[in-house]
Amino acid sequence: MQQGFGRRWFEVRTMKVITLLLTCLVCRGSGKPQFPEQEKDPGFWNAWAQRTLRSALTLQEPNRNIAKNLILFLGDGMGVPTVTAARILKGQLSGQYGEEVQLEMDKFPYVSLSKTYNTNAQVPDSAGTATAYLCGVKANEGTVGVSAAAVRGQCNTTRGNEVTSILKWAKESGKSVGIVTTTRVNHATPSAAYMPPEAVQAGCKDIARQLMENIPDINVIMGGGRKYMLPKNTSDVEYPGEKKHSGTRKDGRNLIQEWTDRMRDKKGYYVWNKKDLLSINPSSADYLLGLFEPGDLQYDLERDSSTDPSLTEMVEVAIKILRKNPEGFYLLVEGGRIDHGHHEGKAKQALHEAVEMDRAIGRAGLLTSVHDTMTVVTADHSHVFNFGGYTLRGNSIFGLAPMVSDVDQKPFTSILYGNGPGFKLINGSRVNVSTEDYQQNDYQAQSAVPLRMETHGGEDVAVFSKGPMAHLLHGVQEQNYIPHAMAYAACIGQNRAHCRTRSSATPLAITTPSLFLLITAAWLLC
Ligand SMILES: *[C@@H]1O[C@H](CO)[C@@H](O)[C@H](O)[C@H]1NC(C)=O
Ligand SMILES: *[C@@H]1O[C@H](CO)[C@@H](O)[C@H](O)[C@H]1NC(C)=O
Ligand SMILES: *[C@@H]1O[C@H](CO)[C@@H](O)[C@H](O)[C@H]1NC(C)=O
Ligand SMILES: *[C@@H]1O[C@H](CO)[C@@H](O)[C@H](O)[C@H]1NC(C)=O
Ligand SMILES: [Zn+2]
Repeated sequence: MQQGFGRRWFEVRTMKVITLLLTCLVCRGSGKPQFPEQEKDPGFWNAWAQRTLRSALTLQEPNRNIAKNLILFLGDGMGVPTVTAARILKGQLSGQYGEEVQLEMDKFPYVSLSKTYNTNAQVPDSAGTATAYLCGVKANEGTVGVSAAAVRGQCNTTRGNEVTSILKWAKESGKSVGIVTTTRVNHATPSAAYMPPEAVQAGCKDIARQLMENIPDINVIMGGGRKYMLPKNTSDVEYPGEKKHSGTRKDGRNLIQEWTDRMRDKKGYYVWNKKDLLSINPSSADYLLGLFEPGDLQYDLERDSSTDPSLTEMVEVAIKILRKNPEGFYLLVEGGRIDHGHHEGKAKQALHEAVEMDRAIGRAGLLTSVHDTMTVVTADHSHVFNFGGYTLRGNSIFGLAPMVSDVDQKPFTSILYGNGPGFKLINGSRVNVSTEDYQQNDYQAQSAVPLRMETHGGEDVAVFSKGPMAHLLHGVQEQNYIPHAMAYAACIGQNRAHCRTRSSATPLAITTPSLFLLITAAWLLC
């Protein structure tokens, strides 16, 4: 044992020395230092750590205000390796090495780990986990809005087992509620939020209909999914004549028309493109339905920015509409296609989705105040995505490891999947990635096991929080604890007894970011 470990350690060391020698040759050639010059100075690291320490010491007095507003950013499939890789990508997109930059979520003062398993699954799916972080109850995989007593695919078992979501608790307390997603709006994550009792009684009403019939209660809903709202073979407004984009409803109902009819005297607007979205005056809109694609929205890398809004633009409009309510709001924002990118083995698509969600987190921070708004960022589950291979500082996150396999002598990308569609053999051996364009948007990173769809991962995911009572999200917790902590912070749902002794924040500084964020940002920019 000892000897084997020693030898391996020696080999790793030797390899690092060779790598460093190579690097020096490379950096001498290119003129760019292999890492920032200032990092050679211990004073640089000591000063940075001391600034971080001083700002950590300000947290000794937690924010005990009542949260008027609650925002949950849910990165579907955004495990910790995805967060780290997205951070490096964000830095590299702005010309930096990448590792040293801060994501917007990195600036949140509290972080906890969430255990994501479903009641009947070690590695969870998005439906069961949505029930946990929206309804506060762990559930079986494939079920939304019902407890673990309900069985997937058996609608007759849902009755009596339905659980309510934090959106409902917020609504019952007079708050406005909104859902913004990059997927079709009837996808698993948002759907746990709008399960009306009739739907449960009827057994199996489709999610699109549940959503639209419940929509007078949801002030803002944005995402994709037009075709699920329109009668079968109705031509799509954006892609007329394209069969695959036309309506899918067998019951012949036009749910968009039904919604606009109900909104006639209610300041409600339906939009399907970016121009119409941005022309809405948020101060005169109380309800908004935005459906920007027939199905899921485009990947952000592929988005036509002249016709389709970004997640950040959608979030900005949503907050401006919702924050008019003096009782506050609950907003669920889903970066839903991080998951899709990973399932397809397309790490570049997934990571750009995560970077865009992070931009939306920053925008939301500018439009709200930590004095009265609790913001939580988390994921429903992880993926079997990772990156490694002793890559050097500043190596392109989509680049190669600085070595070849000592078995097949071929290079490999730093990013690899445990399973998925990137598994390929040519004449019985692993593809030489140097013969492929591994930097392109749709490149599928190699995987150990061939699968048409890469799978979710089972490890814990991070929960970042800021604002009133954000410190409740600490330590290693069950995922279903999240809405309990958020509801407590906002004095909604079952948590009200403590509210008399806590005070609402003075809504003074609605656009002032916290001192913590200001200081951290200023220091990092210097
Ligand atoms: C529900 O329906 C399934 C068939 O779909 C049946 O096997 C089961 O016994 C039913 N359960 C109840 C509680 O009625
Ligand atoms: C829908 O289908 C009917 C009959 O199949 C056809 O007559 C009609 O033109 C179709 N409408 C559209 C919009 O494609
Ligand atoms: C892999 O491909 C690169 C580029 O074509 C080539 O230089 C290298 O020799 C190849 N390695 C192996 C082991 O085939
Ligand atoms: C696979 O092997 C065959 C026979 O050895 C050879 O003709 C062919 O070019 C090889 N294909 C590739 C992609 O290397
Ligand atoms: Zn998934």
